[in-house]
Amino acid sequence: MTHPAPHRVIYDTDPGVDDAMALYYALAHPDIKVLGVTTTFGNVTVAQAACNALYLLALAGRGEIPVTQGVAAPLVKRGEAPPQHIHGADGLGNLPRRVVTNNKLDARTSAQFIVDMARQHPGEITVVAVGPLGNLALALAVEPQLPRLLRKVVTMGGAVLEPGNVSPVAEANIWNDPHAADAVFTAGFDLTMVGLDVTHQVILPVSQFAQIARHHQHQATDTLHHAVAFYANFYSNLYPDVAAIHGCFGHDVLAFVALTNPELFSTETGRVRVALDGLAQGQTMLRRKDIHYPQTGWGPEVPDTQVCIQVQSPECKALIESTLMSAWLGACV
Ligand code: BDR
Ligand code: CA
Repeated sequence: MTHPAPHRVIYDTDPGVDDAMALYYALAHPDIKVLGVTTTFGNVTVAQAACNALYLLALAGRGEIPVTQGVAAPLVKRGEAPPQHIHGADGLGNLPRRVVTNNKLDARTSAQFIVDMARQHPGEITVVAVGPLGNLALALAVEPQLPRLLRKVVTMGGAVLEPGNVSPVAEANIWNDPHAADAVFTAGFDLTMVGLDVTHQVILPVSQFAQIARHHQHQATDTLHHAVAFYANFYSNLYPDVAAIHGCFGHDVLAFVALTNPELFSTETGRVRVALDGLAQGQTMLRRKDIHYPQTGWGPEVPDTQVCIQVQSPECKALIESTLMSAWLGACV
C-alpha cells in the first residue's frame, strides 16, 4: 500500500540551476507532492522563470503540475539585470537546444494561486520559496490570514553568521526584494530559514550529476547535468573549496532537504528582520533570545523564525544523490 506524501507543497521559484535541482529533488522524493510551481523574477526574468518551470516539468513527464507567472520586479527598490554569468542567459546554463513541449501556464498570478490553494486546503500546504519573496508578500496582501491557512513556509535565503553572497552581509534572494522578505519574516508564518549558513556547507560535485545523468539516460537529467556544469564554473572560479571538487552550492535543494529531513539541521529560533536600505540592504538579522534590546522593531509582535545554523553535509549529499537516482522520471510531454 502506498501512503499519501506528507508534504503537500507549492514551490515558489526563479529557475535557475539550483532551483532546477531542487524541483527535481521534490519530484523524486516520495514524501513530497508538488501541487504547483509559482514563479518569480530573480535568477532570470519572470517570463523566463515560468518558461523554465514548464520546460523542466515537461521533460520529467510532470506537465500536469500547474505553473504560474508571478512578480516581475521587487516591491519597492529598482530591479536589476539577472545574473547571466551564474545561471546562463536562459537560467539553465545556456542549453544548446530545447525539445518541443506542450504544457501551458495557469492564467492566475502566483500570489493568487497561493491564496486559492491555501483557502481550498487550510492548514495543509507548505510553501517552499527559493527566490525573492514578492509572490508570498503579495499573497499576504490579498489574504492576511495566509499564515494560518498555510501549514509552513521554508525559504532559502538570508545569512546570519555567514557573509553574504551579493554584498558582505546580503544573500541574493533577500537582496533582490528586501521589503518582501521583511513582510514575510514578520507575518507570523511557521517559518524556517535555510540560508547561506547551511547552504555554503553543502558542495555538490558536477560528477554526481554526471553519474545521475548516466544512470537515467533521460532528457531531464541530461538537462540538469548541463545546467549544473555551467553553474559550477561560476562557483569554482570564486571559491577554492568548491573548485577543489569542481562543484557548486546546492542552495535551493537544501530547503527541500530541511523539509523532508529536519534532523540533518540544527536551528536557532528568534526574531528575524531585514535591512531595507543603506549599505546593509538585504541583511537578515537574528535577534538572540537571551539579550534584551531596547531598540524598536524587535518586540514580541515580531514572530519567531527557525534559522538553520548547521547541517550534516555528507548525509545531505548522500540523500540528494539517492533521491535523484531513484526511479522518478516519466516520458517527456
Ligand atoms: C540563491 O540565489 C539564487 O541565485 C539561487 O537560486 C538561490 O536561490 C542563493 O543565494
Ligand atoms: Ca533560487
